[in-house]
Parts: sequence; C-alpha cells; structure tokens
Amino acid sequence: MPEVTYVLADGREMKIDVPCGQSVMDGSVRNNLPGIVAECGGSCSCATCHVYVDAAWEGHFDEVTDEERDLLEFADGSQPNSRLACQLIMSDANCGARVVVPTN
Ligand code: FES
Repeated sequence: MPEVTYVLADGREMKIDVPCGQSVMDGSVRNNLPGIVAECGGSCSCATCHVYVDAAWEGHFDEVTDEERDLLEFADGSQPNSRLACQLIMSDANCGARVVVPTN
C-alpha cells in the first residue's frame, strides 16, 4: 500500500498508508492530522487542502488541471510546488511521496 509522509506545521513527520485510488487529502483526514481542512470534501472547490509537494515527487502525480490551478492562484502562500491534496491520487508511481502542510 502506498505510503505518504506528511510534514506537519509543527515540524512532525507522519508516515501514513494511503490505499491506491485514495488521495493525499483522504489519508490526512482519516487519520485526523492537523492542517488539511478539506472543507469541500475533495471536490476541488475550497483550496483548504493546500500542500507543498516535495521536489522529488512533483512529477509522480497527475498534472495540475485548470480548475486546480485557478484555486491555487488564490491560496495563501502558494508556490510553484503547491498542489491541492485532494487532487493527489495515490498509485504505485508515487508510493513514498512527501508533502509539506503549510504553516498558514
Ligand atoms: S478538499 Fe476542497 S479543494 Fe481539496
């Protein structure tokens, strides 16, 4: 099962198993990790699941859609490696991915 490392705002690193087909957001919410609010439940309409994808893993997820890009433009602290965690779907290609939860 794919594993994701979440670097939390307080610096803790949590390794969570996230089944293939589920999102990085799902793994966080199901394990009550702080920082990924996911107000819209994963329908790509709130941007409260904003994370930074570690540079080593940026190319291992599906590309950003226009809808996601529009939301990220207005996310606090948006950076080139920003993604919406609900759009990061786990597969064998991204097992071991590392994401950083923004501090703001
Ligand atoms: S959970 Fe709302 S955009 Fe990701």
